[in-house]
Amino acid sequence: MVAMMAIRRRSKAALTLASPQPVMGSQPNEAAISVSDLSIVFDTARGEVIAVDRVSFSVTRGEFVCIVGPSGCGKSTVLNAIAGLEMPYEGAVTVDGRPMRGPRPDVGMVFQQPHLFPWKSVRRNIAHGPRMLGKSAKDAGAIADGLIEMIGLTRFADAYPHTLSGGMQQRVAIARALANQPRVLLMDEPFGALDAQTRTVMQDNLLALRSRINATVVFVTHDIDEAILLADRVLIMSAGPGRILRDLAVDLPRPRSHAIMLEPPYLALKKDCLDLIRTEGQRAFDQARER
Ligand SMILES: Nc1ncnc2c1ncn2[C@@H]1O[C@H](COP(=O)(O)OP(=O)(O)OP(=O)(O)O)[C@@H](O)[C@H]1O
Ligand SMILES: [Mg+2]
Repeated sequence: MVAMMAIRRRSKAALTLASPQPVMGSQPNEAAISVSDLSIVFDTARGEVIAVDRVSFSVTRGEFVCIVGPSGCGKSTVLNAIAGLEMPYEGAVTVDGRPMRGPRPDVGMVFQQPHLFPWKSVRRNIAHGPRMLGKSAKDAGAIADGLIEMIGLTRFADAYPHTLSGGMQQRVAIARALANQPRVLLMDEPFGALDAQTRTVMQDNLLALRSRINATVVFVTHDIDEAILLADRVLIMSAGPGRILRDLAVDLPRPRSHAIMLEPPYLALKKDCLDLIRTEGQRAFDQARER
């Protein structure tokens, strides 16, 4: 059971985009994200649901960490707490040493659906955050153009979201999250709604992008292949109430591509994960049926 039950529902606070802020006292190897004894309980018609039960982990600056686990185990809830979207919680969540008490401009988020402004072009979607922070149209446009080039959509800079494929829209969503140079980028199954082929392309894109962005990344996925391909570390969560079952280092060389998935060290890591995930997936399924 969680240590305290005084915590309740999620807040609906909106994410805002802002310019990066100087962070005092940060060193290259210190924890960028620290989650300590995090517990979150929801009040529901069926009573209290313990979504997250005393989860602790930290993420070093520049590290890419994937969280995997069965549906309903609390992955999004943990990520939302790091984003400052899940309040109140029990325990401590800090980014760059400062407690998360609400959305912050240095923490960017990408969701499963791109949620672009349909009435704005690609360029204006990406420039929106910097504009909101008082950048001139020229400066915001220059930031957007740089990111559009980086995500390979130069030809579509003036296009509107509904004219883009799902994968292209998600690339714009990633660029929009990067427009304010977040120190921490949180991604909640960002490729989950894409077809398998587009997903593969997006994974390659993200691998290439990673060397060009200077952000610490926490990436939630159901897909163990995606997790091992992208991550420096994989955190495997148990069926609800969510706990961290395994913290697995992915010591595979970079740069990586999908070819790595055929190599013995990769397969050994995957084998390590699969039994654990299968057992937990079955437990989550049984729990949902019984509840
Ligand atoms: N706003 C809410 N109110 C009540 N219960 C909630 C709320 N949000 C999440 N939960 C419950 O908390 C638990 C964890 O949910 P969460 O969305 O974090 O799971 P998840 O691991 O992200 O699942 P999925 O892989 O399906 O996205 C679930 O039991 C869910 O029903
Ligand atoms: Mg989720």
